[in-house]
Amino acid sequence: MMAVASAPAKVILFGEHFVVHGNPALLAAINKRISVTAGTIEAEKIVIRSDIGAAGEYSGRVFKVLRGGKRARVLIDPIHDAARRALGSRDRDGGIEIDLCSEIPYGIGLGSSAASCVATVGAVGSLLGRHDRRWICERAVESERMIHKNSSGADCYISTFGGLIRYGRKEGYKKIESRESLSIVIGNTGIKHNTGEMVAGVAKFKARKPKVFQELMTRADEICSDAASALESGELERLGLLMNENQLLLQQIGVSNKKVDELVRACSAAGALGAKITGAGGGGSVIALAANEKESARLAESIRQAGCDPIEAQIDYKGLVV
Ligand code: MEV
Repeated sequence: MMAVASAPAKVILFGEHFVVHGNPALLAAINKRISVTAGTIEAEKIVIRSDIGAAGEYSGRVFKVLRGGKRARVLIDPIHDAARRALGSRDRDGGIEIDLCSEIPYGIGLGSSAASCVATVGAVGSLLGRHDRRWICERAVESERMIHKNSSGADCYISTFGGLIRYGRKEGYKKIESRESLSIVIGNTGIKHNTGEMVAGVAKFKARKPKVFQELMTRADEICSDAASALESGELERLGLLMNENQLLLQQIGVSNKKVDELVRACSAAGALGAKITGAGGGGSVIALAANEKESARLAESIRQAGCDPIEAQIDYKGLVV
């Protein structure tokens, strides 16, 4: 038996980091995917191969590297965990082999880890006849917590359900309808980040300055609600201004840096309606909102001139496909 699942990358439009501490965030899935093929095999093991240069096999809890040296295990343990969660405790003969193939650049804030967990649970779950997206998403969130233990779950929710959503740890997710189509350009600073370390840095900021952090949370919450209504009413200029304000909050909690600030400035100078970090920051990616598709090509060129790789993204409405 064989199953193929694919799940999209994401951008966080508003509220990253604050979402870890209970605020809502607004997210969009984008048209870059990771595909996972899962097939049953006779041998009692789980074999995982990823096109980012890592492969290994698990016989029970014994791990053997097949490709990628020491780094392989760190990369594929979450995939193994996702497969085991999908398999559950059912008795079954034989094993599974899993192949991952990704269009999502790794470690730059576009949700590649979450998408790989979602697609893995989707593919392996499907071999057992499980197709319920909520069931898949809940398991993927637990596996993503192997990568960074305080994950809010936001990345797995958007990758599973697609489109545009508002997500909060307590409130769950809600679809948002945007009145205007969004022309978003992503600029990759080329600086890879470790999401867990960035999230831990923000927790330290909160512990050092609880009152300031609370004030920033309150403003981030208001920005998120204003942005949801700007999306629904198609007010792109207001949306851009809110993105700029959100970026100031991210600077204050220490997740921006010189390269990100330069790229945000370059986007604004090139006519972006708004620009900000997307995801964990510390490098990674910046998103810029263009007034329309024509402007988005101009923006992409300015990002290239600022020495960063541009990605012109469309919103993906499909989410997980099995
Ligand atoms: C990472 O894409 C988004 C963060 O808010 C972490 C999380 O939500 O788990 C930085």
